[in-house]
Amino acid sequence: MMKKCCYLTIFVLLVHLELLAIEPVNATAKRVVVPQNPADYLSLTYYLNKCPDAEGIIQQKVGAWIQRDFTLAASLIRLHFHDCAVRGCDASILLNYKGSQRSSYVSSTLRGFQVIDDIKAELEKRCPRTVSCSDILTAVARDATVFTGGPFWEVPFGRKDGRISLAKEAEVVPQGHENVTALIEFFQTKGLNILDLVTLSGAHTIGRCTCGTILYRLYSFNGTKNPDPSLNTSYLNLLKKRCKRSTDLVYLDAITPETFDTVFYTNLQRKVGLLTTDQELYSDQRTLPFVEAMASQPFLFQNQLIVSMTNLGNVQVLIGNEGEREIGRERVFLGRDGRASCKGKAKHREAERRERKGQSIGF
Ligand code: HEM
Repeated sequence: MMKKCCYLTIFVLLVHLELLAIEPVNATAKRVVVPQNPADYLSLTYYLNKCPDAEGIIQQKVGAWIQRDFTLAASLIRLHFHDCAVRGCDASILLNYKGSQRSSYVSSTLRGFQVIDDIKAELEKRCPRTVSCSDILTAVARDATVFTGGPFWEVPFGRKDGRISLAKEAEVVPQGHENVTALIEFFQTKGLNILDLVTLSGAHTIGRCTCGTILYRLYSFNGTKNPDPSLNTSYLNLLKKRCKRSTDLVYLDAITPETFDTVFYTNLQRKVGLLTTDQELYSDQRTLPFVEAMASQPFLFQNQLIVSMTNLGNVQVLIGNEGEREIGRERVFLGRDGRASCKGKAKHREAERRERKGQSIGF
């Protein structure tokens, strides 16, 4: 009887301990939940109390700038891509000094920096040291998409700005002459899949390209002394006419260059893709079905664009303090005119110098 009672007590104790391991004794005790994905820290209500007008201010500014110069819409979307493609969406593309990502050859045709600085200056007036430059870039890309006829999506906020920006690292960003395998692999390193690649390439439905990037397709493709055979003949003739100098500009979508639509994909079906990287999406078996789907179903493109742009905005985001004192802060620099901006200089160079030396990068 005594033995039985002992076993019972031990059993009850074990069950109790097991339960303790699962449920905290005090239900109000703080539970530490570590999200697998840093993007899980981003929130749709991040600025709700801290800076309730942030999105409105950004949208109003983007609208005003685009009204003044419509070509900025495309440039602003591209700026966000180039930011996220190197070290994640951390606004490192905005840091402006010799040796920074922005000073690299790959970034030489990027535009729209003045828009971001203008927005930052306004937000600093309204909510000092609150809205990060990386969040501004992300919201701006969304608003520019909407202003050109693309879909709206909710942008989650809370990205922190990085402090490292190296020209050398910008060279990994695809420049228009890679093959599809290289594109897929590059996107994969950012956590983006083939469907994201095809969908985000659809941003080339607006905007322009310098002729220098595509001249090799027009006269002696791969040293053949003939144009690229994957170019539609009348399109080839048009490009020859438009591209007298390498600095001349041509539309990425020759048919509806100012509208965020699916004509980019139908162009590929007619051999009217400007970049080889775009045209090849229609010849590679891994990407072709997605091009077909987007070309025939505008609604599908719009929905997938919302998903893929959100994925892009989540690439390697910096959150919290990450053990670095400075990373947990928003970036603010005062220019000579006393206006706040996202450009940055000395502090960031110092951070890079120390990182190269393997020293701590906290200040
Ligand atoms: C898939 C790999 C990509 C390649 C190879 C690529 C390449 C290029 C090139 C070569 C240009 C023209 C640059 C110039 O010479 O002026 C360009 C422009 C542009 N890209 Fe991409 N890009 C890619 C992905 C993306 C993504 C993911 C987005 C946005 C989500 C994007 C948005 C744009 C826009 C909107 C422009 C026009 C910019 C303007 O008019 O100022 N691109 N891209």
